[in-house]
Amino acid sequence: MNILGIESSCDETGVALVSWAGAQRPRLLSQALHTQASMHEAYGGVVPELASRDHIRRVLPLAEQVLREAALGRDAVDLVAYTRGPGLAGALLVGAGTAVALAAALGVPALGVHHLEGHLLSPFLAEEAALAFPFVALLVSGGHTQLMRVEGVGRYALMGETIDDAAGEAFDKSAKLLGLGYPGGPALSRLAEAGDDARHPLPRPLLHSGDLDFSFAGLKTAVMLKARQAATPQDRADLAAAAQAAIVDVLVAKSLRALRESGLRRLVVAGGVGANRRLREQLVAGAAGLGGQVHFPPLALCTDNGAMIALAAALRLQAGLEQGGSAGAFDVQPRWPLASL
Ligand code: KG4
Ligand code: ZN
Repeated sequence: MNILGIESSCDETGVALVSWAGAQRPRLLSQALHTQASMHEAYGGVVPELASRDHIRRVLPLAEQVLREAALGRDAVDLVAYTRGPGLAGALLVGAGTAVALAAALGVPALGVHHLEGHLLSPFLAEEAALAFPFVALLVSGGHTQLMRVEGVGRYALMGETIDDAAGEAFDKSAKLLGLGYPGGPALSRLAEAGDDARHPLPRPLLHSGDLDFSFAGLKTAVMLKARQAATPQDRADLAAAAQAAIVDVLVAKSLRALRESGLRRLVVAGGVGANRRLREQLVAGAAGLGGQVHFPPLALCTDNGAMIALAAALRLQAGLEQGGSAGAFDVQPRWPLASL
């Protein structure tokens, strides 16, 4: 079965083809991505109206491109999967409308996928045999920071989450305060390479709270106050390093706590912040100390992409959770916890 996946929840248009048969692990055939980052850069963040209109421009050419790269015709598509939410309403509707129309034209079903389920399951695209359920998942994106206990496809229990900003937001806002471009996470971690994280130490919010929740809003204020005194390029690099260290330390401490509390040994890290090198290194070292192992998606699939959407659809079908159908296409809740799937 060949699944065309479409992601359009924010500022990346992602399209991919995934195939699966029987109980085999789904395989990525081809994928294409257009990032709008340079379009939004001048505004310091994503402009929803511009995002929606650019998705319209990009989505069909990208679909043609992935079919061409997989040397498949349109008639080889058996199902069209798309990101149903959460995300920017207009941007989501472009993906949903395109997917449902495309599916109708091809005479195949369409299937809406939860964006975070896509991130959560994306490490299964790494072709790594050792990854299996159950596991703890750290979901760290621009909009979410959650620790989930994952028993299987569609079986998710929330262990802890941010009570204010997401980790990606903390990276992006700290970067903005330091005058770095958008998106700020990668820029901040690049600047941090040249910095000393001990020169302007920052608080580690909720580090000792005894639970698995996070809070990053106060960190932003602390960075703002110190940024005013950061006079030299070295000061800014040191502050970038301190901000990164504070965010990463909390993410690592809570993830390891989640492993200990759950008794599980596998940790999956997904979402854009999972591309952060310091986070990856510290999680791998920390989990190893507990006899555990960390699983990441391929680096290129940490941030938003169509492959994870096609994959999540494939795994849901394989698990017998879906038949595919356009009925629930626009049935999105404003707050849509994964645990309700
Ligand atoms: O998962 P994603 O692509 O989109 C959402 O669903 O939000 O995540 C985007 C977030 C942004 O906040 C971005 O700054 C952050 O991931 N990010 C990073 C890195 N690469 C992306 N944060 C820290 N270090 C990175 N290398
Ligand atoms: Zn995402």
